[in-house]
Amino acid sequence: MAPDPLPDFGTGRLPGEAFHRACAVVRAMGPVVEVPYFGGTALFLARHGDVVGAFRDNERFPAGAHYEIVIEPVQGRTFESMDGDDHNLYRQLAQPAFRSRAIERFDAGGLAATANEVVDGFAGRGRADLMADFCAVFPFWVISRKLGLPPAGDESLRRWSFDLLGFVSDPGAARAARDEFDEHLAPVIEERRRQPTDDVLSALLHHEVDGRRLDDEEVVAHVRMFFAAGAATTYHAFGNLLYVLLTHESALAAALDDPQRRPAIVEELLRWEPPLGALPRIATRDAEWQGTAIPAGSMLLFGIAAANRDPAVHDRPDEFDPDRDPVGLISFGSGPHFCPGSHLARRELLTGLDVLLERLPGLRLDDPAGVEPVSTTLRAPEAVHAAWNPA
Ligand code: HEM
Repeated sequence: MAPDPLPDFGTGRLPGEAFHRACAVVRAMGPVVEVPYFGGTALFLARHGDVVGAFRDNERFPAGAHYEIVIEPVQGRTFESMDGDDHNLYRQLAQPAFRSRAIERFDAGGLAATANEVVDGFAGRGRADLMADFCAVFPFWVISRKLGLPPAGDESLRRWSFDLLGFVSDPGAARAARDEFDEHLAPVIEERRRQPTDDVLSALLHHEVDGRRLDDEEVVAHVRMFFAAGAATTYHAFGNLLYVLLTHESALAAALDDPQRRPAIVEELLRWEPPLGALPRIATRDAEWQGTAIPAGSMLLFGIAAANRDPAVHDRPDEFDPDRDPVGLISFGSGPHFCPGSHLARRELLTGLDVLLERLPGLRLDDPAGVEPVSTTLRAPEAVHAAWNPA
């Protein structure tokens, strides 16, 4: 019997385990495998050692080239689309968004308060699509509250973030969102420049590295990136977390019975169903990997989910097992572009989980439609229809 053709790793829906089965086929075929991708092809790296090695090899596979095309035109120039010395400098200039006193203060109380505020909007109803009502709201509000932006703008910022991310499919909406971001942020930035407060935006505006500071345009670009790169990934991760809990009775029971086990459940979720299932790169020069020639201009896919389930690293890799040793997690990347928001993402997932389990007693799946994560690069459920016993 002829083997099934490989799915298109750009456009495929690949719900639930179908994606992981396709990744396993590619992993078994070799270290670098040509796969269908948006009607063309991409070179897929699916083995753990290769994905880690390629992430760290910023000379052969610099990260910036892809982001320059898919997001920079509307997000602006940020360290995400830079490499080398510029990347180092700008990553340091933006450091207060990841490590600062304002961040510590917010994490201590602001995260839980924000999650509770989102849940207030629907807890009394007894049922909701948690994907739409919680996952697609909480991480966006977190970024705007953390920065110290006025809450009245929360909803618009969330909408504009989604439009920015849709740049490739709807450039017009993304450009409009870019301009609206500008108009919204300009007066706040002007005020914080004049009169700094103790929020993250003020820290960003006044942080200096070797006598350099971010100018207003650079600050706006980085703020757009925090929403686009930071909130969208966490939104997808939260959806996947709810998928696991509401379809794996033992995981939900463990989370309810013993809050101390929740960090291990989140960690295993990030391995088992990472929100970035595969990450695109563009080869900027002729290269070679494991004996395969990679011509300049080739599209590459770093198979994060495939690497996380590589049997060379984990026994029973397809099983969701929070008790396993969390080694080799590659969901936040590796090397110079390693995710600077990984700490925040984990705290958001844990705090959000604490709040949902406390506020929604008897939480259960109401309707399985849409709950399996779909897609490849950014994967999440389309809906999480849940019910609980309202107070
Ligand atoms: C579960 C949630 C998250 C996941 C799975 C995730 C994953 C990743 C990955 C894989 C990369 C590396 C990209 C590459 O090498 O091309 C990355 C980079 C990045 N992440 Fe995250 N991320 C998450 C949450 C966040 C949050 C909350 C923030 C905070 C605002 C954030 C900000 C960034 C930034 C700014 C970069 C670019 C880093 C650089 O280019 O040096 N991420 N993330």
